[in-house]
Amino acid sequence: MEGFRVIGGERLRGEARVQGAKNAVLPILAAAILPEGETVIRDCPDIRDAHAMAEILGKLGCECQWNAGEMRIDAANLHHWEMPDELSKQIRSSIFLLGPILGKLRRATVTYPGGCEIGIRPIDLHLKGLRALGVSIVEDGGVIYCDGRNMRAGDVYFDYPSVGATENVMMAAALLPGTTIVHNAAREPEIADLQDFINAMGGSIRGAGTQLIEIEGVKSLRGVCYTPIPDRIAAGTLLCAAAMTGGEIRLTNARPWDVIPVCDKLKEMGCRITEEKDAVALAAPERLRAFSQLQTNPHPGFPTDMQAQMLAAACVAEGTSVIVENVFENRLSHVTDLCRMGADIRVNGRMAVVTGVPRLSGMTVSARDLRGGAALVLAALAAKGESTVEHAELIDRGYERLERTLQTFGAKIERVRK
Ligand code: EPZ
Repeated sequence: MEGFRVIGGERLRGEARVQGAKNAVLPILAAAILPEGETVIRDCPDIRDAHAMAEILGKLGCECQWNAGEMRIDAANLHHWEMPDELSKQIRSSIFLLGPILGKLRRATVTYPGGCEIGIRPIDLHLKGLRALGVSIVEDGGVIYCDGRNMRAGDVYFDYPSVGATENVMMAAALLPGTTIVHNAAREPEIADLQDFINAMGGSIRGAGTQLIEIEGVKSLRGVCYTPIPDRIAAGTLLCAAAMTGGEIRLTNARPWDVIPVCDKLKEMGCRITEEKDAVALAAPERLRAFSQLQTNPHPGFPTDMQAQMLAAACVAEGTSVIVENVFENRLSHVTDLCRMGADIRVNGRMAVVTGVPRLSGMTVSARDLRGGAALVLAALAAKGESTVEHAELIDRGYERLERTLQTFGAKIERVRK
């Protein structure tokens, strides 16, 4: 098992480039099975989830090659429509393959991807969307048999703006004759990136970023070279790290528009934010002030993937902050270890009330999920003394060598094997 050893107290200073977005690349890799011919994803982040998705594509008959930040996918030999159980469990995002496999092969068999550390992660909305396109779905013993031979374009309504379900319908309908309309669609920037990718391949989708998306099915799609958007969560995480350590950093390959909710909170905490065309800079105050309240919600609300990091920042801010996690039912597990580091946090259901303390104390703590693990690294950077954050592999799922990026800012952090 690997971990990160951190000596806290260094003010982060310097400049770094933000990685490509994990949550854009994963659906884009899934959509790469739709075209005839090879697709190249440039600036693909070197993260475990991207490699896991490529492995699944390989098992389905696609050829995937990783080469220094580029992922090449050739789906010419895609012949399997069954997603083996061990792969579905390996990465929850395998559910994003349901739509494109049906879109291309009209058949698909998958197993429930199962929950993860932050919640049970149901897929009822994914299945509802596909049924609205005429897919007949039989669930038997945890296996989901999908028959798309009678698929047709249609209207899809989502009771909740699910990111993955919206993306699955976009991919299932891209090659479906007729016009499919998604009502109450998710509006995250990664949805617009998936639209841009499919349109770059010759697709015809409009409206991503709004709650109404229109997909005009086309006869075929062609492979392209594509660069995904920058990772707004990785950017927000680094801004939080600088904010918590009284530092000053500049991030390139960062879209200010995508980090507005996070920068709004960091400004409320006393940080000075400078926005450029594709860069964001932050200068932190000597000590952060508490924000009054933070509620996570579907985009354009505050992103749930930044909740843990902001909660860590609240732990060392002056005053009391209230955080409510409205998106996932079990996304406060990082509180336990933050309290072991000396944080003052009261949890009641999905609400956490954080009263800031002047300093946290270094400690051995354990990542339980991707973003909670990142939050513990931030806390360790701000803490007094040495910390070890165990289970780096969870953090590697979404951050490209996080310790190297932090080292460029002067952080005393190294990867250790235990
Ligand atoms: C995507 O997950 C992201 N993952 C998540 O990022 C992100 O937290 C989430 O969107 C919300 O923004 C990827 O894009 C790979 P949802 P997804 O469907 O698609 C419920 C990270 O840390 N729901 O919008 O699974 C669900 O239980 C990860 O990078 C249903 O009830 O999110 C949750 O409460 C974590 N039925 C809420 O909707 C369904 O069929 C949001 O889920 C689907 C979802």
